[in-house]
Amino acid sequence: MPILNYQNKLILAPMVRVGSLPMRLLALHYGAEIVYSEEIIDWKLLNSVRQVNDVLGTIDFLDKTDGTVIFRTSKEEHDCVVLQLGTCDPNRALKVAKMVEEDVAGIDINMGCPKEFSIKGGMGAALLTNLPKAKEILKTLVESVKIPITCKIRVFENENDTLNLVKELVSTGIAAIGIHGRTRAERPQHPNRNGLIKFIAENINIPVIANGGSREIEKYSDIEKFKKECGVSSVMLARAAQGNCSIFRKQGILDLDTVICKYLEYAVNFDNSPNTTKYVIQNILKELQETPRGKKFLECQTLQQICEIWDLGDYCRKKELEFFERGMTCRRMITPDMFEPAKKRTKFEQFDDCKELRCAFIRVNYVKDTELPKSILLSWCLKNKIDDKPKYEIIHQGKLFRAILSLNGEKYTSSYWEKNKKYAEQGAALSCIYHLGLISKEKLIESGSVIK
Ligand SMILES: Cc1cc2nc3c(=O)[nH]c(=O)nc-3n(C[C@H](O)[C@H](O)[C@H](O)COP(=O)(O)O)c2cc1C
Repeated sequence: MPILNYQNKLILAPMVRVGSLPMRLLALHYGAEIVYSEEIIDWKLLNSVRQVNDVLGTIDFLDKTDGTVIFRTSKEEHDCVVLQLGTCDPNRALKVAKMVEEDVAGIDINMGCPKEFSIKGGMGAALLTNLPKAKEILKTLVESVKIPITCKIRVFENENDTLNLVKELVSTGIAAIGIHGRTRAERPQHPNRNGLIKFIAENINIPVIANGGSREIEKYSDIEKFKKECGVSSVMLARAAQGNCSIFRKQGILDLDTVICKYLEYAVNFDNSPNTTKYVIQNILKELQETPRGKKFLECQTLQQICEIWDLGDYCRKKELEFFERGMTCRRMITPDMFEPAKKRTKFEQFDDCKELRCAFIRVNYVKDTELPKSILLSWCLKNKIDDKPKYEIIHQGKLFRAILSLNGEKYTSSYWEKNKKYAEQGAALSCIYHLGLISKEKLIESGSVIK
């Protein structure tokens, strides 16, 4: 793998929830040259397993307990993706770095996040005032990891204090440094200290990646202006790219629908979660969410439904079917001990005599409480004068749950291991109302509850 060079680069900045694989590929498509992942906390990666996903052509790091994707990357970005880590511990950081060093081009340590969660944990901007720890983390990684190590910081009020900090960090051997020109206490509406970034860039000898200029960046030429003001050759954009990722396009910015369609194509191709996909599009649409189409979009719960709005419904259906036929294991097929091959697989005999539906309970599909599977079932029992109420037995394995519902001498269950007991009961009730004919399979498929 060629060693990542941070000189003269247009970069997608790290963004929680936004910076997953489809957004990174979109940024590369429009002209970004390096893409940062969202910040991932070290212990989340340590609790994951690496899996090659042949169907999607990706490397996935999946949460051991529930199978959710912690980090997904593909060959298209292999030489230019930087994984951003949230950490306060050199040993944990090193373990994670060793897990991912073949799969990413660089590792960045977040030293700028001012959120309470980070500060309390000694991560993010807390490291700016704990220089020994910050240096220890960087030094440990630089010494033992094959790929370049960087960090992303915020500035201090005072130029010389900032320069001293940066010089100390540079002394660890990092390959480049991202500088967001605001202090830990400053918010996005405060002006970015471009002059301070310039002062630092003039006084150190590794690439400075200027950040914080999005408020003034509306077109490609504004990026050049920002670079000049900061005296750097590389810049990193967050909000400007979040709002319209084609900002990276030399030939000019594109309209939002074009950008959304391209984003959706990547989201479908890489089986992005509907929640993240929706969040990203909400941030592109902004006030357009108030239009009739925007409101229709807000009601969507599945990737399929979102795609219909941008005329990509058939594309999504075709791809999902293709993935299924090629044997992709999606999150809803995860079983608790799937990632522990060494352990003897548990045989859940309790489910043997149950009427099972391969389905999941998706809470957002139910607006009113009366529409919930358990409520529908109770009303049906009342109407049909069934005295014995449905009884629920919970089966749990690790942090995941399934339920067995007993009614009229029959037992029902859903196939999906839910994240809590309540959902497990609703899943079993869903199976029951389906078998009693109170809900059609078509309706379940439409809502994405049925696992194909
Ligand atoms: C939605 C969102 C999520 C962010 N998540 C991260 C993150 O995970 N790690 C990080 O270092 N900064 C994060 N940031 C901060 C940005 O990377 C960037 O430093 C900041 O927005 C200023 O740059 P800009 O003017 O280009 O937006 C986030 C910003 C936004 C808007």
